[in-house]
Order: sequence, then structure tokens, then C-alpha cells
Amino acid sequence: MRAPQSRTKGGAVPSSEELHKRRGAAVARGVGSVLGAYVDRAGGGTITDVDGREWIDFAAGIAVTNVGNSAPRVVAAVREQVERFTHTCFMVAPYESYVAVCEQLNALTPGGFEKRSALFNSGAEAVENAVKIARHATGRPAVVVFDHAYHGRTNLTMALTAKNMPYKHRFGPFAGEVYRVPMSYPLRDGGLSGAEAATRAIETVEKQVGAENVAALLIEPIQGEGGFVVPAQGFLPALREWATAAGVVFVADEIQTGFCRTGDWFACDHEGVVPDLVTLAKGIAGGLPLAAVTGRTELMDAVHVGGLGGTYGGNPVACAAALAAIETMHELDLAAAARRIGATLADRLRAVAARDARIAEVRGRGAMLAVELVQPGTLVPDPAAAAAVSAACHAAGLLTLTCGTYGNVLRFLPPLVISDGELARGLDILDAAFG
Ligand SMILES: Cc1ncc(COP(=O)(O)O)c(C=O)c1O
Repeated sequence: MRAPQSRTKGGAVPSSEELHKRRGAAVARGVGSVLGAYVDRAGGGTITDVDGREWIDFAAGIAVTNVGNSAPRVVAAVREQVERFTHTCFMVAPYESYVAVCEQLNALTPGGFEKRSALFNSGAEAVENAVKIARHATGRPAVVVFDHAYHGRTNLTMALTAKNMPYKHRFGPFAGEVYRVPMSYPLRDGGLSGAEAATRAIETVEKQVGAENVAALLIEPIQGEGGFVVPAQGFLPALREWATAAGVVFVADEIQTGFCRTGDWFACDHEGVVPDLVTLAKGIAGGLPLAAVTGRTELMDAVHVGGLGGTYGGNPVACAAALAAIETMHELDLAAAARRIGATLADRLRAVAARDARIAEVRGRGAMLAVELVQPGTLVPDPAAAAAVSAACHAAGLLTLTCGTYGNVLRFLPPLVISDGELARGLDILDAAFG
């Protein structure tokens, strides 16, 4: 049986409705999509579907296209690279761009010490490798993670991820030696200070695991899928201090927060926290699949030759894109852009919150902002309200995402090259959707 004609084979452009039908007959149900429309093109702050409908993009492909879709430098670099060579496998025949990306990451990530990097394909793969490296370097088995954490969908990263549905449900058994401790979640932990919340987490580790058994403490400096939870000031520095004293590798998962998203190059920069290892992906390469672990040379180089790698990790096209994306972040000062976008977004969200009692909190940093919705006057999560506002945004031409352990958080992640006009239009739609 022949497959339906696709656009890439020169056929007429099918409608979103037709594509949705074909999808139902071809794509596994377990792979969901937020939007029912099918993309034709995207760039700046908008996405256009095959029927010509346009959405203001407040998702950036889940914090990936920080430099925008098809950013000019990225397109040029990718074009040039695909004409030279598409793949040799760095483990077989190495090339400069892999080395150059590692040099960039070693220089950009927090910490003035000597570093090394290794490249992979996805965020989950980077997290898996950070755990491998920390275990190998310390000779210890345990990994400490936090409530509401999200680290991916592979077997080990499902174990590291907190939320059952949809990420873990009936996919077990999971990898062992993973221990979960309480997070600092100011809205929901009775206002514990950062130091108090850190003490609570550390006491749990010491009682239930024993510091001497812990290879790594793995934390998102601002939680992503878990609800854009920003820990109280002092929480991360206190954990960092404990990890140093206990010989535990402090791993910052900056996969969602990294590459200018939060108004700094990395979210750890905000409180001057210096991780031993950082996991990176998403915004690193302007939309091409690339991920990395970067960290202290003595940890990274503890692993024997051949212990790290993979067929596609650090693919030359993705590396070319990463170098161009990083250059664009410097050139356009996208960290400053994130702060500007964040200030505009936060002002408008606070104005909406002032008149809408369902909004318990506006939180986040830079262009990584969210509102948590509750039943008014309580902390009872209201996921239905989040879904309804999000659906109203989609219908009116704004692409938004929800997240959170309770599904009651609306999050906003515009590309950092969104224009002021696009941002204003998006905010008008959002404002009306709350109405
Ligand atoms: C903090 C964090 N870690 C890990 C991952 C997993 O990355 P990937 O989907 O590229 O495997 C994500 C993805 O959303 C993430 O936000």
C-alpha cells in the first residue's frame, strides 16, 4: 500500500484537518500534541499552520527556540554544514565543530575552573550521562532528586522525574538508588526560608540515604515541567554548600532554564551557585537536537576512554547550529532581551492577577514565567481553569502551555527574539482569555 502523498514529495499542501486524520492512522496515540494544527512555517514570535492561521508563540517549542525559529545565522550555518558533511560520528572520525561547542560550553557555564564537555542528543540523555559520570567519579550509587522534578522519559530519567501521569504511569519498574526529597516551593511549603527548606531536604538525605552513599544531587535551579517553581532565596546555595562538604556532585539541570532564558546565561548565575556538572539541551542549538554535560575536568575525565558517547551525539549539523545560536545570543544580547520580555510579561500578569482571584502566584524569572491557578481563597489546584484559559488562548491565536504537578500552571516561554508588537498582541489575547 502506498503512503499518502506528502508535501516533501511535491504534492499539494494538505490541510491541518487532513493531516490530523492521517496522523490518527499513522502516529502512535501516546505521542500527544498541544495544538490540533499542523505547522507550515515559524519565525520571530509566530507560528503559521498549513491553512495560513497564525499563533503568537509563547512556547518556543518548550524553551528551545530562544534565538527564534530558523534564526538567520543558524540557517546559514546548517546549510553550509550539510553541504560539507552530515555525519561521520565523532567517535569514528572527529571534526572541529564538536570541539568548538565544548570550548564554548566550558567558557559559558558557571565556574572559572577547568572544565570538559561531552555532547549527546537529548536532555534525558545528558541527565543519564551526568549520573553515569558522578557515579563513576565518586564510586557511590545514590542520586538525590526533588519533589516536582522533571528530568526526562528514559528509564533512569523517569525514575528521577517526580510526576506519575503521564510520564511514568505503567512504565516501571524504574532504575534504583534514586531518592526524592522535599523541594523549596514557597507557595506551598508554608513559607519556609531557603535555608530551612534546604535543612529539611538535607536531613531527609542524611537520615534515609547517608551522605557517604550519595553520588549526585540533581536539581533544576527553577523547575520546568513541575510548575516553574522558583526555590526560596538561599535554598540552592545551602544545598551547594552541603554537597561540597559531603563530597556529593552537585548537578544543575539547566536544560529548560539555560541559554539566556531566565535573563542570565544560566539560572544558577542568579545566586552565584556554581555546579560541579551542568546538563544542557533545548536552547543550545536553535532547534536542532543537541545536549551536553559540562563540568569539572576531574569528574568528567574520571571516566575511561570509550565510556561516554553515542552514534549521533554532537552531530556536525547540530554543532554548527549550536555555534551559530550561541553567537546569536551574544550578538543580540538575548539575556537582556529575556529580562525585558520578562518585565513586560510580569507587569501584565500581575495586573491580571489583581483582578482574578484564581491566580495564586505569578512567578519565574526572565522570559520563563508562569501563573499558578487555584480555587479562589484556597491553595486547591484548579487544573480545569488552566486548561480552559489555555484553550481560549489557542482559539484566539496565542500558543501557551500548561505544566505543574497538579496541571494548574500556565507557563510562558516566548522566543527571545519576539517583537514588542507580537508580545503585546499575545498579552492582549492572554488578558482577554482570563476574562
Ligand atoms: C529540566 C529538564 N530536564 C530534562 C528534560 C528532558 O529533555 P529531553 O526532552 O530533551 O529529553 C527536560 C525536558 O523538558 C527538562 O525540562
